Amino acid sequence: MTRVDYDRRLYQTYRAGRSLSADTGRLWMDALAGHVGRSRQGLTILDLGAGTGRFSVLLAEAFHARVVAVEPSAKMRSDAERSSAHPRVVYRDGTAGAIPAGDGEFDFALLSMVIHHVPDLDPCTRELRRVLKRDGLVFIRNTFAGRLDGIRHYEFFPSARAVDEARLPRVKRVCEAFEAGGFAMQALDTIEQEIDPSLAAHCERIERRALSSFELITDIEFEHGLRRMRIAAARETNPTPIREKVDLLVLRRRDN
Ligand SMILES: C[S@@+](CC[C@H](N)C(=O)[O-])C[C@H]1O[C@@H](n2cnc3c(N)ncnc32)[C@H](O)[C@@H]1O
Repeated sequence: MTRVDYDRRLYQTYRAGRSLSADTGRLWMDALAGHVGRSRQGLTILDLGAGTGRFSVLLAEAFHARVVAVEPSAKMRSDAERSSAHPRVVYRDGTAGAIPAGDGEFDFALLSMVIHHVPDLDPCTRELRRVLKRDGLVFIRNTFAGRLDGIRHYEFFPSARAVDEARLPRVKRVCEAFEAGGFAMQALDTIEQEIDPSLAAHCERIERRALSSFELITDIEFEHGLRRMRIAAARETNPTPIREKVDLLVLRRRDN
């Protein structure tokens, strides 16, 4: 696995480069609520690999929850503490293999765009099983190898697509690891989110280089992709919203 260091550069651009509109945030909270039960409030939730806390605050609000947001990068965590502060969210240092929480603490865990950064899934599933309550859920919000057709920017950055096809896990591998670790697959939903209102706006987002795959291509490849994208954006006469497909894999902790 190629490690991406969020403390090097990404922490500076992540918040602006990965922002979601209020509608898209709601779409995701509704998708989770569809599995958790809309009436479930006052939950305790783990946001594992919370980054700058973009989902931590949404979770606290949508489920009136107490959220423990675990993040190993000191600089991402410091951004979260500064700009995603919330009275029911605590940010803690930790990793998927060493979750700083007690046994049976959480109703569910969210791993948003994190699973491909986890070097070994076995300690991760072991830790998730330990910290979740009976029947607790794990939500893996991610794109997966073999399922990347719904992401628009790959059209301009073929080398980023190749990097992601090689480094992102397949759904099957993640399911097998979780099943071996005491979970059962419950669902695989594909959520189509609006990421930007036009190609020009999407181009401005992409320019920030806030995607970890852009850390793994060369500067030249990035500049060439950006040039192709800017040309296409300049030609767009009728701005169309950019929609992308992101998967939501849902696993349930088994009792035995
Ligand atoms: C793409 S960001 C996702 C952040 C946040 N979940 C979101 O969706 O905005 C990936 C995050 O995973 C964190 N991470 C990397 N390795 C990790 C690990 N072994 N365990 C937990 N988090 C990890 C990174 O530091 C980074 O903040």
